[in-house]
Amino acid sequence: MTNFLFSNPIRCKLKLVQKSQLISQTFRYFSTTQIRKHGDYEWQDPKSEDEVVNITYVLRDGTKQKIRGKIGDNILYLAHRYKIPLEGACEASLACSTCHVYVDPKNFDKLETPKDEEEDMLDLAPFLKSNSRLGCQIILNKELEGMELTLPQATRNFYIDGHVPEPH
Ligand code: FES
Repeated sequence: MTNFLFSNPIRCKLKLVQKSQLISQTFRYFSTTQIRKHGDYEWQDPKSEDEVVNITYVLRDGTKQKIRGKIGDNILYLAHRYKIPLEGACEASLACSTCHVYVDPKNFDKLETPKDEEEDMLDLAPFLKSNSRLGCQIILNKELEGMELTLPQATRNFYIDGHVPEPH
């Protein structure tokens, strides 16, 4: 029987497809986000002006902090580099909402559609607005030049109480 399965090319192909589906399903369960960097990249300066993406964080007291980011920077880790109080308790694994930001209306529609996991976390975020996003899921590109990100009045850390990740 086993010999029949593997000597028959069609059955063999079917087995391989099933196996690869199983692997990709398994991978999905252990991978809630594609954001795997841990902030090292955000500590690198832009290599050329072509890479630069200027953005502004608006802090809770209304202070504006202009930052010279670059293509590929993650909003959460970029904030950590410049000591902007965007917590990010779960370190971009989509298990908290402490990286909650409001995106200015001009740039909000340019962002990729949020994943279901991001929507679920946002539903739990205090002070939710129609332009709310999780900062750890926003990656800079040239189109986002001039983007303004406002920190909400408060976030709720229900993931690990009091845990504030240190920049690496
Ligand atoms: S840091 Fe937890 S979801 Fe962004």
